[in-house]
Amino acid sequence: MNKLHDWPEPVIRVQSLSESGLKSIPERYIKPATDRPSLNVEEDPSNMDVNIPIIDLTGLSEDGNNLPQSTMDQISLACREWGFFQVVNHGVCPGFMDQVRETWRSFFHLPMEMKQAYANSPKTYEGYGSRLGIEKGAILDWSDYYYLHYLPLTLKDYNKWPAPPDSCREVIDEYGKELVKLGGRIMKVLSISLGLKEDRLQNAFGGDNFGACLRVNFYPKCPQPELALGLSSHSDPGGLTLLLTDHQVPGLQVRKDDKWITVKPAPHAFIVNIGDQIQVLSNANYKSVEHRVIVNSDMERLSLGFFYNPKSDIPIQPMEELVSTDKPALYSPMTFDEYRLFIRLRGPKGKSQIESLHSPR
Ligand code: OGA
Ligand code: NI
Repeated sequence: MNKLHDWPEPVIRVQSLSESGLKSIPERYIKPATDRPSLNVEEDPSNMDVNIPIIDLTGLSEDGNNLPQSTMDQISLACREWGFFQVVNHGVCPGFMDQVRETWRSFFHLPMEMKQAYANSPKTYEGYGSRLGIEKGAILDWSDYYYLHYLPLTLKDYNKWPAPPDSCREVIDEYGKELVKLGGRIMKVLSISLGLKEDRLQNAFGGDNFGACLRVNFYPKCPQPELALGLSSHSDPGGLTLLLTDHQVPGLQVRKDDKWITVKPAPHAFIVNIGDQIQVLSNANYKSVEHRVIVNSDMERLSLGFFYNPKSDIPIQPMEELVSTDKPALYSPMTFDEYRLFIRLRGPKGKSQIESLHSPR
């Protein structure tokens, strides 16, 4: 833990670099050739029409029931094959979603001194940040971010939330309430679709003591997008992620059969993805899939990742209903606190962490 004391190098805001108008990016943002995005593959017609499944949640009740069987089947298939889907008619008001995104955009467009007041450290990562991981000399991602806790209430600290722009804290609070509600309903749907009782998955997260946090990603324009990544390949370490993106500006790519598929977000959809903790709890029935973000030279992009996580100090292991002699437990127990130390120290590294959890058999 003590290693997470401070950043290993002076922090550089990617937004400042971008706004300085440089024509070529500094070396520390240049990815090795194997990790660079092949931006022209996007023109590959075999790939153009592919998208993650879009699922209509019309009729979803508070208890996670009432969805037609065909919708439940789509969700189950999406979680097994993609680890990702988008939801529409999810009950969160579209106008409010726009307001939240634009409030955060105003934050990132504040003068740098005002943002620096919220500069974060690797100890908790809360606040305004520009890197993930503390390895000296690491190749960095082309993005800045803001990270904060909603739950548990013991970690919620308004002083670590931005005060300007006006109303920011209220908007964030309201957004948290809405997403906790939506997240809870999706947890029930996932539980049922795994063949379990509706509260089983939530109980495995620690019941009412689950955690929730927000990471707002800001991807400035990049003069050499073919050499960089906005966010390196990773799977989300937590439970369930609800992502709100800029629908005009694509950027998120999901790995599918060894290809990178660019997500085309439906207007006012949330992109939902399975995190590592649900992969573990479901004994790999549901997959936490690698994803990354590409950047571009003419538009900034903003996204809000809301992470619905297990209570951080309880052991997470495959649920016994999903373990049998034919399908033994694939993972050894670990708390989420222990688990997330890896990404906090080493930064985004594909799926190497969850693979290291495989129980020896
Ligand atoms: C994340 C993430 C994707 C995006 O924050 O974990 O994967 O589109 N974000 O910004
Ligand atoms: Ni992610």
